[in-house]
Amino acid sequence: VTNSSLQEICCCMGQPVAGNPHQYMMEKAIEAAGLDWRYLTLEVAPENLADAVRGVRAMGFRGAHVSVPHKSAVIAHLDDVSRAARLIGEANCVTRQDDRLIGENTVGKGLLHCLRTLCEPAKKRVLMVGAGGAARAVAVELALAGAGPFDVLNRSQQRGNALVELLERELHVSARLVSWDSPPATEAPPDLIVNATSIGAGDADARGPIDASWLRSDQTVADVTYNPPKTRLLRDAAARGSTTLDGLGILVRHAAMAFQMWTHVEADMAAMRDALEEFLGL
Ligand SMILES: NC(=O)c1ccc[n+]([C@@H]2O[C@H](COP(=O)([O-])OP(=O)(O)OC[C@H]3O[C@@H](n4cnc5c(N)ncnc54)[C@H](OP(=O)(O)O)[C@@H]3O)[C@@H](O)[C@H]2O)c1
Repeated sequence: VTNSSLQEICCCMGQPVAGNPHQYMMEKAIEAAGLDWRYLTLEVAPENLADAVRGVRAMGFRGAHVSVPHKSAVIAHLDDVSRAARLIGEANCVTRQDDRLIGENTVGKGLLHCLRTLCEPAKKRVLMVGAGGAARAVAVELALAGAGPFDVLNRSQQRGNALVELLERELHVSARLVSWDSPPATEAPPDLIVNATSIGAGDADARGPIDASWLRSDQTVADVTYNPPKTRLLRDAAARGSTTLDGLGILVRHAAMAFQMWTHVEADMAAMRDALEEFLGL
């Protein structure tokens, strides 16, 4: 409740965007911080993206989350993007700095923050499952943090090879594509396994390419899937004694980063996690 008629505005743009959990979570963070801000969820068709970004600029929005299908296309409409976002080829978060709109990719940074509460990523052997936007985001941040070598496991070889090339050519870290149909080499088991595919989304029993028998108690296993957060992979990993990181925690962490970039106020991540669980009915 406010006496002022002029609030600061942030938004999430996507299509289809109904059901996106950001607004509910960000509004709880705004409330917890006692800010007079608003967060809108906006359905934007691809052909209207340029106008929508002009609108964000013209109306002085403080920040925007960019969702599917705009994460790549939005880059052309921004004044600048971070090195990571450029390497990943996607920006999921836009921040207004004076009159400029700056793109960032916070997805991999969110995972990295969560991971750093458990271990130091430098020199960790990584098995990256997936080669889409989320996988690129995570792989780039892990490589920038000194992790590697990487094994990349992806259904389509083409995207898998593109991620291997990105890691080797741009980040100068050793990477190879591993066959989807045969187990990763066991001579040097990975320290960190990340599922960044959409395999577990909406299906707690969906089985990915990682066989439970490959999982070990000295590994960390992360899954970017946030609904349901207890994926088959993470349940298998917990049963084998591995340390696990779920997609809910990753989502809260990177949304909190956006909140802090936009408001310069620390986000109440417990309130955000409660809101997210409530929104998703967990
Ligand atoms: N927790 C978070 O904060 C967070 C953030 C971002 C994304 N996510 C989640 O991450 C997931 C991936 O998102 P994205 O943006 O990376 O999507 P994307 O760019 O479309 O990539 C999808 C990835 O999943 C693979 N895949 C999809 N269906 C598959 C199947 N049935 N079998 C094997 N592989 C399959 C794709 O392989 P191909 O290359 O062979 O198609 C690709 O590697 C989504 O579930 C999304 O909700 C979570």
